[in-house]
Amino acid sequence: MPESSHPLPPQACSLIIFGGSGDLARRKLLPALYNLLLDGMLPADYAVLGMGRKKMSDAEFRRTAREGVVKYSRQKLKEDVWTDFERRLFYVAGSLDDPKAYTDLRTRLVKTEADLHLPGSRIFYLAIPPTSIAMTVEGLQKAGMVLDRREGAAARKSLQAHAATDHHGLFSRVIVEKPIGRDLESAKEINAAVAKVFDEAQIFRIDHYLGKETVQNILVLRFANSIFDPIWNHQYIDHVQITVSEAEGVGSRATYYEEAGALRDMVQNHILQLLCLVAMEPPYSLDPEVVRNARMDVLRCLRPIAGNEVQKYTVRAQYSSGCVPGAEVPGYRREPGIKPDSTTETYVALKLFVENWRWSGVPFYLRTGKALAKRASEIAVYFKEIPQILFNTNPVAPLAPNVLTLNIQPEEGLSLRIISKVPGAKAKTHPVEMHFRHGEAFGAPSPEAYERLLLDVMAGDASLFMRRDAVEASWAWITPILEGWKTHGTKWLPEYEAGSMGPVEAERLIQSDGRNWHPL
Ligand code: BG6
Repeated sequence: MPESSHPLPPQACSLIIFGGSGDLARRKLLPALYNLLLDGMLPADYAVLGMGRKKMSDAEFRRTAREGVVKYSRQKLKEDVWTDFERRLFYVAGSLDDPKAYTDLRTRLVKTEADLHLPGSRIFYLAIPPTSIAMTVEGLQKAGMVLDRREGAAARKSLQAHAATDHHGLFSRVIVEKPIGRDLESAKEINAAVAKVFDEAQIFRIDHYLGKETVQNILVLRFANSIFDPIWNHQYIDHVQITVSEAEGVGSRATYYEEAGALRDMVQNHILQLLCLVAMEPPYSLDPEVVRNARMDVLRCLRPIAGNEVQKYTVRAQYSSGCVPGAEVPGYRREPGIKPDSTTETYVALKLFVENWRWSGVPFYLRTGKALAKRASEIAVYFKEIPQILFNTNPVAPLAPNVLTLNIQPEEGLSLRIISKVPGAKAKTHPVEMHFRHGEAFGAPSPEAYERLLLDVMAGDASLFMRRDAVEASWAWITPILEGWKTHGTKWLPEYEAGSMGPVEAERLIQSDGRNWHPL
C-alpha cells in the first residue's frame, strides 16, 4: 500500500530537469514521477520540462520518457495514467553556456504555466556535470526565473517552515545532483556559486541513498526499539562493516567515472551518509535541522587519514577481466572510453574511526566496488565476543559473534545471527539467523529513493538532503586521502578479477586485525 499522505503535502509546481535528455532522467527521474502519479502522490497541478543539449521535440521527449518508464519503472505502465502524465511533459533544447537557452526556457516555462494554470513555483533539477552548475544557476537568475532569494531566509527563521515560500505561497527550489565537486576546494566553489542565487533553505543537495526505505529504517530501528540503543556503543560493538557491492562495471559512464573513481563516486557521499546514520547520536526531534546536525556531528568526529597513513588504512584497486553473473567483463582499462593506462580505482576499502565517546576504539570498515561477484549493500554490526567460559571454551574455535545485518539492497530487511543449541543430548551450539524481509512483512515493493526525494522537494522537506556544511565536511575528510594516494600511493593499482569479491589487499586490511569481511 502506498502511503496515503506525506507528512508535508507536495505543492503545485513546474519541475525543470537540466540534463533532461540524460541517463538519470530516463532511468530514474521520469519513472519516479510516473510512479508518484500512479500512486496518487503528485500534486494535481504540475509540469515537467526537460532541458538538454540534444535537439528533441516534445513528442520525442515523451517517447524517450515512455521507454524509460517501460524499462525502469517499479510499476507497470498503465495507458490511461501514462496519457495523463505525458500531456504534462515538455522539452526545451539548449546549451548551458548559451544565454539564449535560458530565455527560451523562460518563454516556454511561462507559457506552460499559463496553459496549465500553474501558480509559478519552480523546482530546478541540476542533473548536470559539476563544472556546469555555476553557469546554470547564474543563467537562471539572469533570465529572471528564480524567485527572490529572501523567501528562503524568511523560511529559515522558523524551523517549522521547511518550505521556503514567499507570501503568495510560491517558491523556487534547486536540486543539486552529485558529484558536488571533486575535492574540497571545488565543492566550496560550487556551493558558493549556488548560494549567490539560492538561499540554503531553497537548496536540496541530493544523495539518493538517504531516500532508500531501508536506509531510512536505520533510524527507526535504532530509535523506535528499546533493545538496540543501550548496546549501540564501544562496550558492546566490536566493529561495523559497510559494504556497497555492485556487479555492474563502469557501463556507459566512462567519461565521468574516469575522473571520479570509487572513493569520490560512492564513499564521499552515499557510504559516509550510511555511516552517519549508524553512528549518530539520537536527535532530540525529527526536525530536519536537528537530524542534519546529528548526522553532521559524525563527520566532524572522523579521524583523518592523511599522508602515508593511506597505506595502512586504505586499499584501492581496479578490476581486470572476468565474469560477473550473466556477462563477461573486459578489464577496466579495456572498457570503451577508458584510458589504457588509467589509474582510476574501481574498488576501495577503508578502515576508519569515529572519535567520540560512543565509538572510541571501534573500527568501521567500508568497502565498495564495481564488477564484483554480486549486487549487495549492507551494514553488518559485529558484537563483542562473549567470555571464554561455559559454551565458548574451545580456544581454537571460539563461538561466532552476534551480528546484526541491515540489508539495504537488493534484499531489504535485516537479520540477526545468534547462537543456538543443536537439538540432542550434547551441549553443542550452532549459529542461526533470524530474518526479517520488508517484502514479506509489508507486501508491496518499497518506493524508489527518487520517488520519496522528489516528493520531499515538492513539499519543501530537506531532512533527507545534504546541507552545505555536511558536503564540505565529507570532502574535507576525503580530500587528504586523495592527496595521500597521489604522493604515497603505488604507481600501479592492485587488481581484482571481475566477478570476485575484491582484491587480496582488502582481505589483508581486515584480516590483519583478526577479522574477516562479512560474507554477502
Ligand atoms: C551513483 C553512482 O550515485 O550510485 C553509481 O554514481 C552507482 O556509480 C549508483 O552505481 C548506485 O546506486 P544504487 O541505488 O543502484 O545502489
